[in-house]
Amino acid sequence: MIQKIYKILQEMIMRIIIKKNYDDLSKEAAGIIRNLIKTKPDCVLGLATGSTPIGLYRELIRFHKEEGLSFSRVTTFNLDEYYGLQPSHPQSYRYFMDTNLFKDIDIKPENTFVPEGSVKRQDIVRHCADYEQRIKKAGGIDIQVLGIGGDGHIAFNEPGSSFNSRTRLVSLDAQTINDNSRFFNNSEEVPQFALSMGIGTILEAREILFLASGENKADIVAQAIEGPLTSMVTASALQLHPKVNVILDEEAAFSLKRYSYYKFTQEAEGKIEMPIF
Ligand code: PGA
Repeated sequence: MIQKIYKILQEMIMRIIIKKNYDDLSKEAAGIIRNLIKTKPDCVLGLATGSTPIGLYRELIRFHKEEGLSFSRVTTFNLDEYYGLQPSHPQSYRYFMDTNLFKDIDIKPENTFVPEGSVKRQDIVRHCADYEQRIKKAGGIDIQVLGIGGDGHIAFNEPGSSFNSRTRLVSLDAQTINDNSRFFNNSEEVPQFALSMGIGTILEAREILFLASGENKADIVAQAIEGPLTSMVTASALQLHPKVNVILDEEAAFSLKRYSYYKFTQEAEGKIEMPIF
């Protein structure tokens, strides 16, 4: 009985893990996904794009090639896609996933889902509802990978998005367009709209893997983790989720008020070989 309660409590935490650098952060995150695939080979992964998860995907590819980790029964759902881009566009998130992960592992292409940015305008609502249904039919997301935008967004849930939001068409914030213009020739080329899972959709994942790297994320990470719950920093909604692994590198952890406490807890856990919550 006590063990059962302990197990439940153990699940209900926001665990802050601070790693030395980006490589270590990527390895830690990949290890968590490897464990899931080993215990549940037909698991459902929620995946993210952007520069942050690239190291994680590189590690997963390495596990596949060197250790034979198989993705043949895994299903994936991506968080979002630019609206108006064809899947073959080099800046589309479908293209990103194919080139940064899917082509190098044994996942079945038909088990990989990314919202379709090329869907006709009149079909958007149905497409978004279908996306939600597909996630449900697959059994829900076991682990959702997330990065954080400079404006505090998760997926493309820009400041002001409802905590109950579902997959839908969104317009991008000026800061996001500016941040992402580095991948395009100029900010005019960045699409202004996207299809994005909602915060409500994300909070339904059984576990969250929230990753942030680099000093430019430090302030917004502190607001998301330690600040008040607010739709102005949509990542703060994760404080409501029962099982979040926050994995940061030292630079992204720099502005945390409770930095020393998290480090102390992390070290203490290692010493007594059990999780502290
Ligand atoms: P990044 O993007 O990983 O490229 O920093 C994160 C995001 O905008 O969600």
